[in-house]
Amino acid sequence: MTNPAGDTSRTSATNGIPTRPEDLRVGMYVDLNCSWFKHPFPWRAFKITSETQLATIRGLRLSSVLVYPSESDGAPSGSDSVSPLDSSPREESPAQAEQSAACTSKLTQADYHQAVSLANQVYQQVVHRSTQMMKDLCSGSVEGLSNAKLMINGLSTLITNTEAASTMASLFDAEQLDNPSILHALNVGTMSMMVARHFRIDEEDLRLIGMAGLLHDIGERRIPLRIVRNRSRLSRVEAQEYQRHPQHAVDMLKQFPGFPEEVLEIIRNHHERLDGSGYPNRLKGDQIPLPTRIVSAVERYDSCINNPETEQSMSPAEALAHMYKNQKHLFASEVVVAMIQTFGVYPPGTVVALTDGTLGLVLNINLESRLKPLILACNPASPKDQPEIVDLAQPGNRSIVRAISKTELPQEIKEYLQLKRWTGYFIQSSIRTIQEQAA
Ligand SMILES: [Fe+2]
Ligand SMILES: [Fe+2]
Repeated sequence: MTNPAGDTSRTSATNGIPTRPEDLRVGMYVDLNCSWFKHPFPWRAFKITSETQLATIRGLRLSSVLVYPSESDGAPSGSDSVSPLDSSPREESPAQAEQSAACTSKLTQADYHQAVSLANQVYQQVVHRSTQMMKDLCSGSVEGLSNAKLMINGLSTLITNTEAASTMASLFDAEQLDNPSILHALNVGTMSMMVARHFRIDEEDLRLIGMAGLLHDIGERRIPLRIVRNRSRLSRVEAQEYQRHPQHAVDMLKQFPGFPEEVLEIIRNHHERLDGSGYPNRLKGDQIPLPTRIVSAVERYDSCINNPETEQSMSPAEALAHMYKNQKHLFASEVVVAMIQTFGVYPPGTVVALTDGTLGLVLNINLESRLKPLILACNPASPKDQPEIVDLAQPGNRSIVRAISKTELPQEIKEYLQLKRWTGYFIQSSIRTIQEQAA
């Protein structure tokens, strides 16, 4: 069967025939030969079984995919059924290069919508894989552990590639997600690695931190759902029961031979606070090492902006300001500052006012120019499935005047912004993909 991660070729690439997407057809066994961040399928190598799959593959705008005739239906003799591409690199003429540059700088609304749509598909797949991974881990399956490692490898590749840029998944409407705990796990895993990069933590440790962020609350699965879902209204006894979830997680993960102790330590202590008010061991100050400080602060940030009791959620900018001004005794200032530097003054999910008075939702972090992210413009007149997306990085475009507090927002704007789930951190990499393909 296929490789569960889809990140490495199932079959030796030497057997695959590079083929243009327009030459594919149902029944062919293909290897998309690209990162799973760039496609929405569970596996990278598979047999095309429907026209829908075919259309999706073509929509990815890959220059070529690998076709394996011997594993395809009606395996042809020779390679007549496919159009092998010249594998030698092609030189671009100066005119083509100029045209490419023009393409990359003039993305249309359709390009942005395609990027958002692709990001949505990819994100849904990541959520799907994470859900299965958590189930496998809970049942003690080693497949769950290897998939968790692959997940972290994929996410760390994305965030350490500044070319690909990244934003947060916090834009998802957590209330509508079937399992908000998966969103929280992905957010904390990804954002912890992003913040850890600020401290020049090496690649291996970065992944351990990401793994801890991804799995930090897995112990909640041993707590009754009514307790997990009503955390602001727990009795003392129920609160004590909830506070056992870090130890439950450690117990669950320790059963995997060789599970990194560094990850277990972060998970065990992710609710500890600098002033000793946390749990389970009331650690204080320097007893809490940097990796744990990072995950605990990021965990709190994500809980603030994706509060299951949505009315109590803060905007991303409000949450960072609150942690910086009011919670110095709980979270390490150097970590909160690193979060502000990482996520920017206008983190994804913040509602901002533009110079022309338009309100908009920040969609991403522009790593090259943090004050010029992509904005989903609030225009109730725009079709709900085709909202206007404004790229502030485009020359001559509007700029941000200020962030708007959630309490200032008119109801119709709130409703407009909640109409769609946003996938945050894959958006810009998808745009990058489209730019590359246009080039
Ligand atoms: Fe958590
Ligand atoms: Fe927790």
